[in-house]
Amino acid sequence: MDPSTASDVLTVHGGTALSGEVRVRGAKNLVPKAMVAALLGHGTSVLHNVPDISDVRIVTGLLEAHGVSVTRGADPDTLVLDPASVERASDAAVEAHAGTSRIPVLFCGPLLHRLGRAFIPDLGGCKIGDRPIDFHLDALRAFGAVVEKRPEGLLISAPERLRGTHIRLPYPSVGATEQVLLTAVLAEGVTELSNAATEPEIVDLIAVLQKMGAIISVHNDRVVRIIGVDRLDGFTHRSLPDRLETASWACAALATGGDIRVVGAQQGEMMTFLNVFRRIGGDFEVDDTPGQESIRFWHSGGQMRALALETDVHPGLSTDWQQPLVVALTQANGLSIVHETVYEQRLGFTEALNRMGAQIQLYRECLGGSACRFGQRNFQHSAVISGPTKLHGAELTIPDLRAGFSYLIAALAAQGTSTVHGISLIHRGYEDFEAKLSALGADFEMGVAG
Ligand code: EPU
Repeated sequence: MDPSTASDVLTVHGGTALSGEVRVRGAKNLVPKAMVAALLGHGTSVLHNVPDISDVRIVTGLLEAHGVSVTRGADPDTLVLDPASVERASDAAVEAHAGTSRIPVLFCGPLLHRLGRAFIPDLGGCKIGDRPIDFHLDALRAFGAVVEKRPEGLLISAPERLRGTHIRLPYPSVGATEQVLLTAVLAEGVTELSNAATEPEIVDLIAVLQKMGAIISVHNDRVVRIIGVDRLDGFTHRSLPDRLETASWACAALATGGDIRVVGAQQGEMMTFLNVFRRIGGDFEVDDTPGQESIRFWHSGGQMRALALETDVHPGLSTDWQQPLVVALTQANGLSIVHETVYEQRLGFTEALNRMGAQIQLYRECLGGSACRFGQRNFQHSAVISGPTKLHGAELTIPDLRAGFSYLIAALAAQGTSTVHGISLIHRGYEDFEAKLSALGADFEMGVAG
């Protein structure tokens, strides 16, 4: 969507403490992948707790282009996926999804197993670094696939059945780990993956695949072993909750001095974040009564504390928690340090926060923690945040999903009015966030204020 269209703009009047209740559904970083896994099965799959976000709509379109029937179940948040008539999609139908998401690359393994061929359009996703797919392609080649680069995308083929193999990832990439899982489950023989990512969404994807009939074991030291099987069936699964959206609402409570109960959130996936939240000075309360799980986040007053943070692969602090935390840290007392070690360019969004009155200085050096792979490569990947600073309204253009929600938090915490452009990016990962903001008492309107 053109960021300048009126429907893509939100005018936010800041200064209100957000309080009330919001619900989070299934994780954006699991649900689309479980949908892709359904392609591997011979029967129908049923996925519960599916959020209404644009990443789900994109994967639905791609699955339908390949002959998979995707329908809503009895509950609106249930999807029924039937891959009985999988067929080759026209390259044009696939190309229509170019630049919209990173998920299409995960269709490779399932399509190679089903059809012997996969066409992958140019990928999209958030602009937070180079985001290459070399690990994915190297892994596919190791299974025996042939990769051809074409101007409109990648054509990947499997002249014969893919074979299990040994793969060591240069970095524990989430997407490349998923690529290996979705390919190895039906490959002939055993696959051993070293230096795998073990994010909660990956563990949930492994649970989905195991329900389908796959044999996957997770070992110490980031090793995953997969014994290939000849056939997989459908699954019935309820997605784990979205821990990234949960943290975003937690930071909104912290930055606005509010009190938000996030219904559907669970403590297990949030522990690293909850430690940081408490150290900054936030309070939380977990309700783990089965069927009514929630976490309530609030700030009971007094000065918030500055601290040093470093993002990392799980079980470290997720990079997707970093941006909303940075907004909250503009209100903490003292100097905070944030070292971003997952993406080389995920701190550029702070320039707009500085225009709102924040004091954030970026550095190329690895600050506050261990040296990371970006240290020698001239990327501004460390930040020093001096707080507390009063924020004031500004004109903001959203660069990526998490920065987008973080700009909303900043605009809500600021005095005065902000105009936020490009909000369709937020719809990629936050279901119906406008209704949730209204329920929390936020003062905003669609479009540019008259
Ligand atoms: N990388 C490579 N080569 C590859 C793959 C990755 O160099 O072939 C590098 C990346 O450039 C990056 C690092 O490895 O520096 C980690 O990337 P990873 O593959 O783990 O990320 P991803 O799978 O593309 C998923 C999430 C991201 C989340 C990251 C890290 C989805 C759809 N996306 O991306 O989520 O930040 O893992 O946890 O699952 C978000 O939700 O806002 C988001 C960006």
